Amino acid sequence: MTKLKKGTQIELVVENLSFGGKGLARIDGFVIFIDRTIPGQRVLVRITRKKASYAEARVVELLQDSPKAIAPRCMHFGTCGGCLWQNLPYSEQLEVKRNLVWECLAHIGGLSNDFVLPALPSPEIYYYRNKMEYSFAARRWLLPEELELSHLEKPRDFALGLHIKGFYDRVLDIEECHLQSTASVSILKRVRQFALTSELPPYNTHDHAGFWRFLVVRDSKHTGQILVELITAPHRSSSSLVRQLSTLLQAEIPDIRTLVHGISAKKAQIASADTQEVVFGPGYIEEHLGDFRFRISSEAFFQTNSKAARILLDQVSEGCGLTGSEVVWDLYSGGGTMAIGLARAARKVIGFELVQDAVFDAQTNAGLNSVNNCEFVVGDLKDLLRNSSFADNYGSPHVVVTDPPRAGMHPSVVNQLLALEPPRIVYVSCNPATLARDLKVLMKRYRLLRVQPVDLFPHTAHIEAVAVLEIRK
Ligand SMILES: C[S@@+](CC[C@H](N)C(=O)[O-])C[C@H]1O[C@@H](n2cnc3c(N)ncnc32)[C@H](O)[C@@H]1O
Repeated sequence: MTKLKKGTQIELVVENLSFGGKGLARIDGFVIFIDRTIPGQRVLVRITRKKASYAEARVVELLQDSPKAIAPRCMHFGTCGGCLWQNLPYSEQLEVKRNLVWECLAHIGGLSNDFVLPALPSPEIYYYRNKMEYSFAARRWLLPEELELSHLEKPRDFALGLHIKGFYDRVLDIEECHLQSTASVSILKRVRQFALTSELPPYNTHDHAGFWRFLVVRDSKHTGQILVELITAPHRSSSSLVRQLSTLLQAEIPDIRTLVHGISAKKAQIASADTQEVVFGPGYIEEHLGDFRFRISSEAFFQTNSKAARILLDQVSEGCGLTGSEVVWDLYSGGGTMAIGLARAARKVIGFELVQDAVFDAQTNAGLNSVNNCEFVVGDLKDLLRNSSFADNYGSPHVVVTDPPRAGMHPSVVNQLLALEPPRIVYVSCNPATLARDLKVLMKRYRLLRVQPVDLFPHTAHIEAVAVLEIRK
């Protein structure tokens, strides 16, 4: 075998796609993961990392494209960190995603993959996102053609757009994006123009100075309402600047229903404000999933693809198999989407959630939908489930729905679930690796009936899956 080390250049043919979305090639069985490639491509790569059991590589030149490749829609494809697979037909993406779930279950969970059903497609594969978080940055990502120029048309020390994968401090100035509404891109451009000509600079992650931090746009796919949140660092002129910008946006883009100004002094680059002020409008928008209405405030969790979320909810509902007499516990209940969606078919639903604001949203959403058999409890699940009074007060659950963040369930939550022994568990996961890890433990007492992948994120390597488990008799 060719002796591989960091810096080696080598020609490879991509065989497959791996978890996380990288292409996979082999030399004499030794695995090499290659960024931004699809099966069938012949590429010249440079090894960027060499480990005992695998290597990582970056493409130097595409020697021959895949017979499956199609033309990507977006001018930023290949540079932007948002989409990975616009050049792969959607039917192929679904097949790959099913295989990724399948491989995680087999390799991490030690489970048979007969349980994994074909992935259900997203009803829309473009313009499906209802939320986009843009970052301001003091370092703009330069395009290859700009590297040659002595004079740049746009300054290099200001950007508003999306991060380049792997570069936390550099941002690509997005001109178009096919994952979100055109109104969202218009707002992005208007805010960029305003901030660029304002007297205050963008936030700099190196010295933590600067003002403009994040722009978050949420747009409802069913009501057309738009919410804008501008997150800035604290500054004495912050209110007056954001108010000027707000007046401008309101006049130019009438679909904006509300604008919120968030202030964050955090060093961490996360679009979450320490304090918020509603500049105009009610501070929330309304979205529909089927017959249900949901109020979404600026930082509340809501499934990003509204139309596919409806399919997810239907799958959860089918997995629960409710007849009207059951007590359901909805773990990690967020703004109450699952709990409210299931309530009409259950006797009682109890939601458990860490974030107080999300619990307020869930309570409001229950009211909006005239659902009065739901209760929501705030706290960390690993502490809440230790407290046996919940089962005493609300009744032991017949069905537990669990929808944890990407890290999966805390081991103590998994163990508490085993001790609780609900007859049925419906596990909604956005990360097949942690799903497989948790299922492996749950298999001590449960049988896996099926795993249904649902694609909420076309053109990316993300996949949602609903696993249905039944207690062993
Ligand atoms: C993937 S979201 C699920 C939201 C909800 N099921 C829905 O469909 O809208 C995960 C939720 O878990 C909550 N969460 C994260 N860690 C938690 C913990 N330790 N205890 C309770 N809730 C937690 C988050 O705040 C978030 O709302």
